[in-house]
Amino acid sequence: MSKNPFYITTPIYYPSGNPHIGHCYTTVACDSIARFKRMQGYDVMFLTGTDEHGLKIEQKAAEKGVTPKEFVDEIVEKFKNLWKYMNIDYDRYIRTTDDYHIETVQKIFKALYDKGYIYKGEYSGKYCTPCESFWTDSQLDENGCCPECHRPVAFAREEAYFFKMSPFAERIEKLLTETDYLRPKTRATELVNNFIKPGLEDLCVSRTTFKWGVPVTFDEGHVVYVWIDALSNYISALGYMNDKYNDFEKYWAADVHMVAKDIMRFHAIIWPAILMALDLPLPKHLAVHGWITFNGEKMSKSLGNVVDPFVLGERYGCDAIRYHILREMALGADSSFSNEIMINRINSDLANGFGNLVSRTVAMADKYFGGTLPTERESDSLDDDFKSVVLNTFAEVEKYMDETKIKQALEEIFKAVDRANKYIDETEPWKLGKDESKKGRLASVLYNLLDAIRILSALLSPFMPATMPKVWEQIGASKSDTEYSKLSVFGVLPENVTVHKGEILFPRIDVDKEIEELNAIIQKNMDEAQSKLSAEEKGETVEKIELAPEITIDDFAKVEIRVAKVISAEKVKKSDKLLCLQLDDGMGGRQVVSGIAQYYAPEDLVGKKIQLIANLKPVKLRGVDSFGMICAADTPDGIKVVFVDDSIPVGSKIR
Ligand code: ME8
Ligand code: MG
Repeated sequence: MSKNPFYITTPIYYPSGNPHIGHCYTTVACDSIARFKRMQGYDVMFLTGTDEHGLKIEQKAAEKGVTPKEFVDEIVEKFKNLWKYMNIDYDRYIRTTDDYHIETVQKIFKALYDKGYIYKGEYSGKYCTPCESFWTDSQLDENGCCPECHRPVAFAREEAYFFKMSPFAERIEKLLTETDYLRPKTRATELVNNFIKPGLEDLCVSRTTFKWGVPVTFDEGHVVYVWIDALSNYISALGYMNDKYNDFEKYWAADVHMVAKDIMRFHAIIWPAILMALDLPLPKHLAVHGWITFNGEKMSKSLGNVVDPFVLGERYGCDAIRYHILREMALGADSSFSNEIMINRINSDLANGFGNLVSRTVAMADKYFGGTLPTERESDSLDDDFKSVVLNTFAEVEKYMDETKIKQALEEIFKAVDRANKYIDETEPWKLGKDESKKGRLASVLYNLLDAIRILSALLSPFMPATMPKVWEQIGASKSDTEYSKLSVFGVLPENVTVHKGEILFPRIDVDKEIEELNAIIQKNMDEAQSKLSAEEKGETVEKIELAPEITIDDFAKVEIRVAKVISAEKVKKSDKLLCLQLDDGMGGRQVVSGIAQYYAPEDLVGKKIQLIANLKPVKLRGVDSFGMICAADTPDGIKVVFVDDSIPVGSKIR
């Protein structure tokens, strides 16, 4: 019998900096779902990878003096190492620099062009280089900077290809509002109101200002711009329009694309539009989670507030980290990362809750029966409620996992863990152990606990895959005892099961001591990251500089720049910006109005020598005549007048 296919994807991440807890969240969540589906018997394809093109990568590589490919190769290795470390069992890893992907992207671009969905136009707007995003004025932050990384944006204009979105508006609106595609569906309203109702804007899909991308086959100089290149990964990885793989028919359409809200729009609107334009079936679900925040800001490479998963994993084990991030984040909402919440969670749920349940149960079986349960039994009505809670947990977890609600699934499992610990309090096995006539009852209690642990640990295994096999070893469960079909029934462990005392699964953590140490590590990392950042990344100086069109020396000679001295200065009435300057220009003197009042007090200028554009056509500014202008520079700290050395005589020509 052939198994049902199940296809799940993470976003493909930018390898522009080291992976962090934010990337871990989506990847661990998808890995857990993939493992759960495998356990249920599906033929799973779990895809992750890296999105390796673009200006930012090109620039970072240049800064480092390596090729873009060398640059990404190194970081991709770090992503892959982290996934290995976090026990991520992906089936396929796609790199957008792989030949087969490039082939698919080029063919898709051409197909959309041939169908008339892609056309040539011009793009202009405010552009943030680090984020590779054009922003509209209303999207900029309160300082007119990039709303994501808060660095300066620059005006940019270029010839570009566009993808027509409007033909798909109606179908996309239906997809979002009338189907179960978007999870949580509550986000549909914002997408419809912000993007669809005002009229879907065409999407810029090619760039000419950088080279590091997939070339457009039919127009030299254009490379495919991020979204067609990136989104196509979900189908190129299955062999769509390439010969590398052959399972597009089998796995498409995807069952779950999981992303954070930062790229929801691209997956909720643009990706369906591209698929519609290609006449392909649409994915079944888009699961959108929030951000892991750190001090209220999105954790991100560009902000330098990353928490290093390797450091955390080394201290608490990768399963504890997996559990913590999965347990904290509800679908759709943000979750704020704090070491304190993490450590308390590990202590309460894993050390005191689940770990303690396993170690107490195994220790008692060992103490009272030498490790092997006798076969005599005596049940009690107390057992019924406990068993029904555990069996009900199975049903709830299955339901929540189908809805991609991982947090709720884990909550259900831990309610049952609490119930099991309460069952120990209710049955008081330590009292039964002292009474020879209660051996049968004691054996029943311990058996029920062990069998409940079998079910709960198997349900937990997709989330904490490293630890649960150790539990099975301790409770004497065979591999087949933990099969999915056996998790909805009690009584699967052999009656005379033998336990094996083992290591402590989740050691209790000393909260104060750990927090102090972690804070020290974070501080050190932040200091290092800060000192390593280039001037550009600190947002200090370099902006994308766009030069005006070339001129000849004759053009330049038309401008008369002369040295002049400020004799007096005063503010122009009713203006915050203008200063009126009286200059000695070596030609009998003149008046110039300059927009520098916010940066200089009149007395700062008197006696100083400046550069004067002497043959500029006179103008009136706020009713005051200005005969020429003085040279000043735009700097991040505002306007600065270019002063001239005092030894240069007034009237000298500058050339
Ligand atoms: O956007 N909290 O790549 P990216 C939660 N290449 N999740 C986070 C996170 C955080 N603080 N930070 C990152 C891109 N993520 C594109 C995607 S897909 C066709 C192309 C996770 O490296 C989350 O899944 O910026 C988010 O959507 C993704 O990383 C963005 O990764
Ligand atoms: Mg991003």
